[in-house]
Amino acid sequence: MPPYNEEVIERWVSNLPNLIFLVAIYGDKTVGHAHIYKFPHLQRKGTSDLIIYLHQDFQNIGLGTAMLGELMDVAKKERLHRIGLHVIADNGRAVHVYEKAGFKVEGVMKDAYLGEDGKYHDELVMGLLLG
Ligand SMILES: CC(C)(COP(=O)(O)OP(=O)(O)OC[C@H]1O[C@@H](n2cnc3c(N)ncnc32)[C@H](O)[C@@H]1OP(=O)(O)O)[C@@H](O)C(=O)NCCC(=O)NCCS
Repeated sequence: MPPYNEEVIERWVSNLPNLIFLVAIYGDKTVGHAHIYKFPHLQRKGTSDLIIYLHQDFQNIGLGTAMLGELMDVAKKERLHRIGLHVIADNGRAVHVYEKAGFKVEGVMKDAYLGEDGKYHDELVMGLLLG
């Protein structure tokens, strides 16, 4: 999930004004990354997409929940209207953590993701309206 090639890194860096970034640092290592991408287009004003991923040694210990809470606080302060995300339906932990933060399943994209197991997996569209 982290930016995996020059092109993606370039795209992220060139979009900095539209991103709310949050990183988790342990010692001298970055162990978690989350961001909200604020859509710059007029017709999508106030709407955004969220991404979060943690180093595998730092998963399932409450860090993701804490980081989402922090990001929600910033999003509310910035008066964002909507945060959306896509998640593979089998990713039970992520779905649980998103639902705990208030996200609702809005739709299912059937067989939208070709996994490393060579099989297609459903993808959920989730969203949170902040008002
Ligand atoms: C998804 C992710 C951000 C969640 O953060 P995290 O720090 O691991 O999660 P937390 O420890 O805060 O919370 C885990 C919760 O999920 C529950 N859980 C763990 N495994 C689960 C599973 N397979 N199914 C359902 N719930 C599960 C835990 O019991 C806990 O519930 P609780 O808070 O109600 O007690 C993190 O695991 C991650 O980065 N995973 C890899 C990348 C990824 O999948 N990113 C999301 C892509 S959209």
